[in-house]
Amino acid sequence: MPMPSSVLPNRSTLPVPTAVRMPTPQSGSDGFRQAMRLALSRRPHTIAPVFFYDEHGSRLFETICQQPEYYVTRVEMGVLQEHAQAIADRIGPDAEVIEFGAGSSIKFCTLLQALRAPRRYVPIDVSGAHLQIEAAALRRDHPMLDVRPVVADFMQPFRMPPGRAPSAQRVGLCLGSSLGNFDADEARAFLAMAGRALAGGGLLVGIDLVKDPAVLHAAYNDAAGVTAAFNRNLLARANRELHTDFEPERFYHHACYVPALQRVEMHLVSTTRQTVHLDGEAFTLAEGESLHTECSHKFTLAGFRSLSESVGLQPGPVWLDARGWFALQWLDCPPLTGSDPFPGAHRLSPT
Ligand code: AVI
Repeated sequence: MPMPSSVLPNRSTLPVPTAVRMPTPQSGSDGFRQAMRLALSRRPHTIAPVFFYDEHGSRLFETICQQPEYYVTRVEMGVLQEHAQAIADRIGPDAEVIEFGAGSSIKFCTLLQALRAPRRYVPIDVSGAHLQIEAAALRRDHPMLDVRPVVADFMQPFRMPPGRAPSAQRVGLCLGSSLGNFDADEARAFLAMAGRALAGGGLLVGIDLVKDPAVLHAAYNDAAGVTAAFNRNLLARANRELHTDFEPERFYHHACYVPALQRVEMHLVSTTRQTVHLDGEAFTLAEGESLHTECSHKFTLAGFRSLSESVGLQPGPVWLDARGWFALQWLDCPPLTGSDPFPGAHRLSPT
């Protein structure tokens, strides 16, 4: 993620919120061990969804996106395709596009056809192998575009690739409702950080909107059981990487929409009283006790706008599908002034 050159000249480092809780744990094995130990030792048992995405989990997520019940990816792609020109016009010419959580870059490619002379594309993702393959394909198909993938968890500090054209307008993409997997503090921390990193430019955010609970229930309980497998893979991953002795089949997948919290919660519920070992330590789960693995927040447009405004971002146009299920919300990121607009909330990373 970019360091605004107007703030730290000659540096290419991500601005990091520090005084706020650093929300996303390191997604590597050390971070996973720490998070799993914490999850098993405290009640309620909760772990961050970032740990779903090992190689197998990432493949399962791609399969979820193809399930008929999981509308999120398809509807967002439809909105992007329908409004690509209007979005590209808002982005403007000569842009440097930074995609937070790029995945396959397919959404950027949809926009690319409409963009005017984009300078540089910086896809950021934790999945390195995937990023390099996508980058090679993009370079081949668009030789004029400078493609600079960054392998990183975008909520952690990292360096931006050097060589940014000083005049390029910086625009961020945070698509796929990734923001929905953060809690409110985390979402605010991300938006505040992105606002600083993209100062003077804009951020396009994909948000999944509040809708009929039956639609949400179906989306997170697909008939083919792919979401259940994705959820349980967390335990299989722990067995592979941390040498725990989870028996995934002794947990069932539970996903439900909680209207009061405007979120779908995913849990792994223990079917019996059982004991799990991690590094020689025993942890007991009672029958019916759950490991809470994910929250997927749904938004109203007004709620998301006020969240964005609370960290100084200015909502612009919004693009929607016909049913009003999914929104692409544009946020203007005001230029940085001398004074810190969010005193005490965050600072720029010194590294
Ligand atoms: C990645 N994220 C936006 C997905 C979501 O809908 O919250 C992850 C997911 N979990 C279950 N199905 C999909």
